[in-house]
Amino acid sequence: MGKKKILVCLTGGIALYKAALVVRGLLKAGFELEIAMTKDAQKFVTPLTFSSLIKKKVHTDEEWFKSDEVLHIKLADWSDAIIVIPATANILTKMAVGLTDNLVSASILASQATKYVIPAMNQKMLTAPATQRNFQRLKADGVQFLSPVKGLLAEGYSGDGRLPEPPEIISWLIDRLETENKKDLVGKKVLVSAGSTVEPLDPVRYLSNNSTGKMGFAIAKIAQQRGAEVTLVAGPNQLALPNRVNYQPIKTARQMEQKMLEFYQQADFVIMAAAVADFRPAKTAEQKIKKQELDQLTLRLVRNPDILAELGRKKQKQLLVGFAAETQELLHNATQKMQQKKVDLLVANDVSRHDIGFGTSQNEVVFLQPDVAPELLSKRSKEKIADKIFDLLMDLNRQRRK
Ligand SMILES: Cc1cc2nc3c(=O)[nH]c(=O)nc-3n(C[C@H](O)[C@H](O)[C@H](O)COP(=O)(O)O)c2cc1C
Repeated sequence: MGKKKILVCLTGGIALYKAALVVRGLLKAGFELEIAMTKDAQKFVTPLTFSSLIKKKVHTDEEWFKSDEVLHIKLADWSDAIIVIPATANILTKMAVGLTDNLVSASILASQATKYVIPAMNQKMLTAPATQRNFQRLKADGVQFLSPVKGLLAEGYSGDGRLPEPPEIISWLIDRLETENKKDLVGKKVLVSAGSTVEPLDPVRYLSNNSTGKMGFAIAKIAQQRGAEVTLVAGPNQLALPNRVNYQPIKTARQMEQKMLEFYQQADFVIMAAAVADFRPAKTAEQKIKKQELDQLTLRLVRNPDILAELGRKKQKQLLVGFAAETQELLHNATQKMQQKKVDLLVANDVSRHDIGFGTSQNEVVFLQPDVAPELLSKRSKEKIADKIFDLLMDLNRQRRK
């Protein structure tokens, strides 16, 4: 794999001088950089400082409208990651609403790469409700922040809002940039359930639900990409099988239960993304039920095993993740489920919305963990949600070992 390409966006804060050392650190670590500066940033430090460091031209608004190419799209497409340092209150606001009135803000909006933002500003600007709202919004969009620290501010008094020192910034960035193509699940066994179960009424009819398996398949795919040994237990589906997973197709909830238990003991991370039918017909007719014989048909249903609760009860070393598909009172119902089923992480989503959840390729979820405030992850691909699930599991795993 070639060097990771990073667009460094510099905005007009007093701490901009520290960004020169960060740029030097990133170059030393082997990253390929392009730099874009706002007009106001250039009032604090000249582009010459940065162009001398990276040995190429620094991009500015002047070049933007003179370029033969659409420069903000070119930079956005080129970059594997974007760093904003020091991030002003101004650029945070622009990012939060998607404003594109200069090269820096337009490139950021146009890019789908991960954004690493390192803000610095006076404490009064930092604690302003608007800035805090911007943080919340951007975090929900997946932006990664290195928080400002307390210390002497440019205004001559102590407070919150200082840019951390360059060595701390460099190691935070390198840590994250290098794990973006991470193989951190090597040696881990991941067990995933996906899709719906089908509960036969007779040889041709069944009870089921709308789950297509996309979320569980995305989880299996990401786990495999990050190096895990993956077992995927899935109900009937129309999806392409992810590479190199141990695929265990099933039909009924009871078959799923059996397969999950078979692979449970060896697993490190277990993710129940399947929508298991709660009930099944008490009897499955051996022959097709004929309508001529009946005016009415009353079905008697019996409870299926609660696989997630069973896995919760049998938990030893495993970290267990459950999903809650709710149509109302999402947080309340999901919190109850988390507690009752003894899961370490519950991923809740609102399946009454048509743009997310069942059958779509995107989802918006809330993560619930015992004793941790709920965390919203705004709408994004199911792969990105899967990636975040494993980040959280790896964090939990590290905390356990402490
Ligand atoms: C001396 C001085 C220092 C400033 N320091 C900061 C700062 O640390 N953080 C910040 O958010 N804004 C700071 N500002 C305000 C920004 O420079 C101003 O909002 C500017 O419009 C930001 O533009 P940009 O985000 O396009 O670079 C400062 C302004 C001046 C004049």
